[in-house]
Amino acid sequence: MLEGSYATYTGVDPNADARTQIAAVLDGHHDASVQEGDARANGLADGCADVVISEAMLTMQSAADKARIAQEVFRTLTPGGRWGMHELSLKPDDVDESVIDQVSKALSRTIKVGARPLTTKAWTELVTEAGFEVEWTSHNPMKLIDPSRIIADEGLAGALRFFNNVRRNPEARKRILAMRKVFHTNQDHLEAVALVARKPVGGTTPPADQT
Ligand SMILES: C[S@@+](CC[C@H](N)C(=O)[O-])C[C@H]1O[C@@H](n2cnc3c(N)ncnc32)[C@H](O)[C@@H]1O
Repeated sequence: MLEGSYATYTGVDPNADARTQIAAVLDGHHDASVQEGDARANGLADGCADVVISEAMLTMQSAADKARIAQEVFRTLTPGGRWGMHELSLKPDDVDESVIDQVSKALSRTIKVGARPLTTKAWTELVTEAGFEVEWTSHNPMKLIDPSRIIADEGLAGALRFFNNVRRNPEARKRILAMRKVFHTNQDHLEAVALVARKPVGGTTPPADQT
């Protein structure tokens, strides 16, 4: 939230380990905190945020919870505020439903959490049905847990730490290799999508209640 000349940040995550990691990243940053909460009902005030960011979180939600979270983001944003999201996406937009089922099952099996990526068309519909206007989308090849991506994200030292940890933990190694196999097998259909959606000024009520 932008208050006067400075910005504040509130992270929300239901998982205690995730909150510990977020708190470490926020350490030393003025007016930045993380609290226990759920994106489906985040406990934040109506219209309290200028920007909401969600990253790699919606894909692992059911269809009903994806819609509920979109409505909750809408409620939390001030009119004119923006929602930036980064998720897994399936391509092309008219991909057969059987492919979506097969990729979702393979992903869920390996990450051990139910996951269902959407096509860009379906991500767009999800946010527009909650009342947003999509301003911008961008796609990138699926590079999750690709060594080059890990080095780019974590730096060389962080990447070496990651590779070492994986090497020493046979279970983690097995899981990561299985994930890579799913990503590789389905590379023609999987990509990363980034999307920015805006809550219209004057549009404080979503057009339809999907709960
Ligand atoms: C795959 S992780 C991605 C985390 C982070 N964006 C990153 O790249 O390191 C998904 C995160 O979403 C959180 N999460 C899952 N369900 C959630 C919910 N209903 N509300 C808020 N956070 C949730 C998980 O606890 C986890 O921290």
